[in-house]
Amino acid sequence: MTMERTYIKDLQKHIGEEVTTLGWVDVRRDQGKMVFLDLRDASGKAQAVVLPNHTEALEVAQIVRPEWVVEVKAQVNKRPEKNIKPDVFNGDIELEVLNIEVLNKAETPPMDVTSDGHEIGEETRLKYRYLDLRRPRLQRNMRMRHQITLFIRNFLSKQGFIEIETPILTKSTPEGARDYIVPSRIEQGKFYALPQSPQQYKQLLMVGGMEKYFQIARCMRDEDTRGDRQPEFTQLDMEMSFASQEEIMTLNEKLLIEIVGTLAPEKKIQTIPFPRLTYKEAMERYGNDHPDLRKNKNDPNLLAFCWIIDFPFFEKDKEGGWTFTHNPFSAPKEEFMKSLMERKDISNILATQYDIALNGFEIGGGSIRNHRSEALIKVLEIMGHTEENIKKDFGHILDAFSYGAPPHGGIAWGLDRFITLLMGEPNIREVIAFPKTGEGRDLMMDAPGEVSAEQLQELGVAVVKSKK
Ligand code: AMO
Repeated sequence: MTMERTYIKDLQKHIGEEVTTLGWVDVRRDQGKMVFLDLRDASGKAQAVVLPNHTEALEVAQIVRPEWVVEVKAQVNKRPEKNIKPDVFNGDIELEVLNIEVLNKAETPPMDVTSDGHEIGEETRLKYRYLDLRRPRLQRNMRMRHQITLFIRNFLSKQGFIEIETPILTKSTPEGARDYIVPSRIEQGKFYALPQSPQQYKQLLMVGGMEKYFQIARCMRDEDTRGDRQPEFTQLDMEMSFASQEEIMTLNEKLLIEIVGTLAPEKKIQTIPFPRLTYKEAMERYGNDHPDLRKNKNDPNLLAFCWIIDFPFFEKDKEGGWTFTHNPFSAPKEEFMKSLMERKDISNILATQYDIALNGFEIGGGSIRNHRSEALIKVLEIMGHTEENIKKDFGHILDAFSYGAPPHGGIAWGLDRFITLLMGEPNIREVIAFPKTGEGRDLMMDAPGEVSAEQLQELGVAVVKSKK
């Protein structure tokens, strides 16, 4: 390339100069004697005009089509007063094209990529996601997502947290959903599980003396997909040693307030500090544990956060046994520790669980954990685990707790859900680069897919199809 590239967002700084831009043809309007091209790169759009006196450029402009990739040499001109569009980005300048080089042609796209896309069927959008991502709305969502995770990383880092990656190939950990499993080649008949959350690892990091951990963590849960659910999603996952419930809640509240204030200043948080409701109050008043407290549900800029606390620890499962309502690793509230240890009055035991809701969606949840093995064993016993079972499935964490586990607690946000609500999007697929359909399919990659007989044989796996 002969001349240094100028990004479209920076054209304003080069009025009267010659520049080289690289990008796509967004829209083309051929007026015979001259051609208008809207040019687009990741930083923005600008209008370009090819005038009759630039004959070579005009010849190329007459054959280029939307979505072709071009290198355009142009002079940046201020528009005459009457042509200025004050509401449009770069509406006061125009590129006078001197030369166009086609870097790559494009087939006619199967859908319009310049609109917001709401009018296009999702099948097409997901099959051609790489084109869908070109539309301004998705560009904005992806950039906002980056800004939010960057903000979180800087904020928590300043507070003394470190980001630590935990394994993806791991062992089943109970979070209440089905596991995705991966067969082991070396140990045939054995399987890894993909993490439903980093719950156990983050607690083991506390035993490991890290004290303040966080992770932008991918979680996998084999459950039915909905508008606010994906089989694979992202949590902001956190854990702190020696921290009280109050400290964890305050820190998270501060982080949420700062993200909104810094990155979405047009939004208004209805009530600060965030209201706190007990589970009982929420159920009695709103009939659910993630109530929508907005005073005006038609105000797109209103954010009503609230905390829900004092959840029951246990509930009855389908078979009539006890199961956890949220997290088996939670500690009971102090005043219920005695009931837990004596396995008495189980239905009334309250957990240290705190959930956070925003505009009617659960966007996060956490708790103070049982850091003593006796208490965790009691929880597992109440849930009907046998001694042998406990040793096999939880031996590692119980062992770990016997070597000086600090008191600790944490939380995880459903990051996709939070970003969806902040961006005013209708579902979480709009803020995930490559989401899956309601049936858990990746239409672009065509996954899940079959594997070869050789692969199966190598893994020692036979497929037996069961009719649903
Ligand atoms: P929990 O299971 O409540 O807690 O998950 C935390 C948050 O993650 C979001 N979430 C989802 N988002 C999209 N798709 C899904 N399938 C999905 N499932 C959950 C929700 C939820 O509030 N280990 C604990 C956290 C802890 O105690 O620290 C956990 O995973 O917004």
